[in-house]
Amino acid sequence: MSTRALRLHDLEPTISAFRADVIEGLSRPQKTLPCKYLYDDAGSHLFERICELPEYYPTRTEMALLASAADEIAACLGPRVRLVEFGSGAGVKVRLLLAALADPAAYVPVDISRGHLVAAALALAKDFPRLRVQPLCADYTRPFALPPAPPGAAATAGFFPGSTIGNFAPDEAAAFLGGAARLLGPGATMVVGVDTPKDPAILEAAYDDAAGVTAAFNANLLVRVNRELGADFDLDAFAHRALWNAEESRVEMHLVSRARQSVRIGDRRFDFLPGETIHTENSHKFAPDAFAALARRAGYAPKALWTDARGWFSIHALTVE
Ligand code: AVJ
Repeated sequence: MSTRALRLHDLEPTISAFRADVIEGLSRPQKTLPCKYLYDDAGSHLFERICELPEYYPTRTEMALLASAADEIAACLGPRVRLVEFGSGAGVKVRLLLAALADPAAYVPVDISRGHLVAAALALAKDFPRLRVQPLCADYTRPFALPPAPPGAAATAGFFPGSTIGNFAPDEAAAFLGGAARLLGPGATMVVGVDTPKDPAILEAAYDDAAGVTAAFNANLLVRVNRELGADFDLDAFAHRALWNAEESRVEMHLVSRARQSVRIGDRRFDFLPGETIHTENSHKFAPDAFAALARRAGYAPKALWTDARGWFSIHALTVE
């Protein structure tokens, strides 16, 4: 396929949706900003650097697991499958799976970061010249439609690696999985990468690295609000914090106000006390049984499970019922 044949389906969130979400989040008693907005072009690049950090074990653990299980996962999905990836990013992991699939019918990478999506889709189309690549820029936390399936596609399957499922609260995760089940259809297979609970020191280091890349990733959210919404966040006045919340089984990221201060966004003013935080991300960790229970609630039957020797990461194959 020539690179010119690649057509983007564009449903990128608008600036007014971004503004409304920011105002709403900062108006709550516990200020919050939705983590999906971490992934503008700069944020997507910072996230790729996070994946290479010595402390950030999930990416390399999942990659090794995918490499060793790719043939079994491909067998689960069957031949001529159309593969839909939710939050495709740089598209590194899916290559392992695509290479193992028998005659895949199409690859539909869905991502909120448009520039990044197009670049990654072009690179992938070049490396898999016989594969039909149909990039779709969308916020997959909201309902969206797939481009028409190419003739000859046997089934549609979902791929949601990276433990991105952990960024949802459990109820939202079940809602997302339910939406994906409706999108993919009964009998479809959904492959989900899920991070597991482990020593809090390992978890906290993974989200607060020594090189400060995760801190820059977190702070980039304020850079983006300043640039796109004309806000006046003072970047030096907020610190990065990562903490393990055992009760909720999640790592939380916050931006901590270093002082009493006010921030303006257009005609709105938001006041901060010293130590007050903006909660920017949750990363829930699920033991295999806990995740299987959640998947069942969302309308799936667990089909297969792969874990590494240390049990640090898991890949679940689920069937839409
Ligand atoms: C997007 C789920 C892969 O929660 O681990 C990494 C995002 N945030 N470091 C995660 C993230 C801070 C990441 N995932």
